[in-house]
Amino acid sequence: MCGICGYIGSSNGVKEVVRGLKILEYRGYDSCGVAFVENGKIDIVKTVGEVDNLKKLTKNMSANVVIGHTRWATHGGVNERNAHPHLSTSGKLAMVHNGIIENYKELKEEFNLNSLSNTDSEVFLNLIDCEKGTLINKVINASKKVQGTFAVLVLGSDGEMVLGKCESPLYLSKVENEVYIASDVLALKGENYFALNDHEFASVKNRKIIFYNKNGEKITKKSEKIEKNSDFSKIFYKTHMESEILETKDVLNKTLKKYKEENIFQNIKLPKKLNSISLIACGTAYHASLMGAEFFKKVGVDARAYLASEFRYGRELLNKNTLYIFVSQSGETADTIASAKMVKERNLPMLALTNMENCLLNRICENVLPTFAGREIAVASTKAYSCQVWSLYLFSLILANKSLPKEDFVKNFAFVNYDDKLVKEVASYKKVFFVGRDLDYITAMEASLKLKEISYINCFAIASGELKHGTLALIDSDAVVIAICTQEKIKSKLKSNLEEIKARGGKVIVVSQFDDFKDFSCVKLSKFDELFMPIVSVIPMQFLALKICELFGYNPDKPRNLAKSVTVE
Ligand code: G6P
Repeated sequence: MCGICGYIGSSNGVKEVVRGLKILEYRGYDSCGVAFVENGKIDIVKTVGEVDNLKKLTKNMSANVVIGHTRWATHGGVNERNAHPHLSTSGKLAMVHNGIIENYKELKEEFNLNSLSNTDSEVFLNLIDCEKGTLINKVINASKKVQGTFAVLVLGSDGEMVLGKCESPLYLSKVENEVYIASDVLALKGENYFALNDHEFASVKNRKIIFYNKNGEKITKKSEKIEKNSDFSKIFYKTHMESEILETKDVLNKTLKKYKEENIFQNIKLPKKLNSISLIACGTAYHASLMGAEFFKKVGVDARAYLASEFRYGRELLNKNTLYIFVSQSGETADTIASAKMVKERNLPMLALTNMENCLLNRICENVLPTFAGREIAVASTKAYSCQVWSLYLFSLILANKSLPKEDFVKNFAFVNYDDKLVKEVASYKKVFFVGRDLDYITAMEASLKLKEISYINCFAIASGELKHGTLALIDSDAVVIAICTQEKIKSKLKSNLEEIKARGGKVIVVSQFDDFKDFSCVKLSKFDELFMPIVSVIPMQFLALKICELFGYNPDKPRNLAKSVTVE
């Protein structure tokens, strides 16, 4: 989390960096700032809130050497003081940082760093400033003393910039005499980019880039082609989230088309003897993984989904006949990356299922199954989730030696919205529960996550068979239960569960393609193959969350306390 940007060139770098920060806002948006050099002195402008505030504050400013940051707070509260860039106590260096320095308290004591160093980032900066030698030596030496994760961009009052990274991403591009630096390739300009690997550093001075390894030795690096996603600026709707939900059908089609045209499944390396599949992910991608595990089991391959934050510290017995699939929209989620590194160290078969072509996870896994959902900006994942589920479904068909569906498979996929009356009704309840069985239980989990993350309603999902083992005690006239039913075999069982809720005064809304729930309020889905229904049924759940969020007057694209890309543990 946190977005870093830098610019050295002859244009107005303040404008360039603010432009980049706006693109990186998905990485955090609680405060932001820029630092630039003027007449050998570093000036800093910071503000709480979104990049648009910074844009207003800096509209008459201009500089050729600029660094900037958009923050998602880890250490230290959200205020202007803790916003980046930070200035070292000597006033000679400014720095922006993405990551967490775990041993900052120990370092502060050991090196007697100024008491003004409140946050982990400030301790790192003052540690760098205390080191001897050139700026590149200072940064390399200080980075050996820190524990944790970082991408840093340090600006010297002489106009030199030094950058380095460990875990958090950092990229550079050069366009003639201009150098761009950013946490995401998307915020760079030009045709090609350089990706820093962990413990690699670069110095940019007089528009010249020199790369170094952790021993301070110069290294050469190959540039890679920037594949920019053209649909980034294509927003037809009020919010990114709405636009992204409505893109679902197109991106499912695009993904299927690409898989066929580019023989993507044929290029996946499988273990010689495939005994099982483990899927590892966080957040919404974990729900897609749960769904994927069910698809694989249905075609006879043993499968299990793990939360990456648990997997990385767990005691799973890893083995060479398991395919480890790391599912991640961004391909840079800290826990997923750490889990992937753990599997890589053991040289086991692994696959990245990601939506971002240039991401870290793809570099680690090498074996990649891409989704083609296009850029997703809203923090709450929607179209990327549907694409992940779709992709895992298609993969399960391949493992079962079945052919992929025809290209117009999703053509009849009608979008089902929630009518506004029902939305208002759900929003008026104190307690919201989502229930389902089998695949629908997983959709219920995803629906509940969507609602809580953007509407801040305290809700949860429960397997409907489990209701009577505790949750039924919470059911009364203050409770609304949204039941998802798309699987024929569990229809009658679910119906009995819903009667039990109704008998206790709870309001029931059923989301289903079946006509069997006439006694309840219903959201009617279009009919498809049952295994495809999780993609059909999640759409109205995404709309429900969006509409309630808007009803409450919140911004669905930027929910409080959250960020799109979670690059810290
Ligand atoms: C954050 C996002 C979620 C996302 C999760 C995992 O929490 O807000 O939308 O599902 O990270 O992200 P990934 O990029 O690994 O799919």
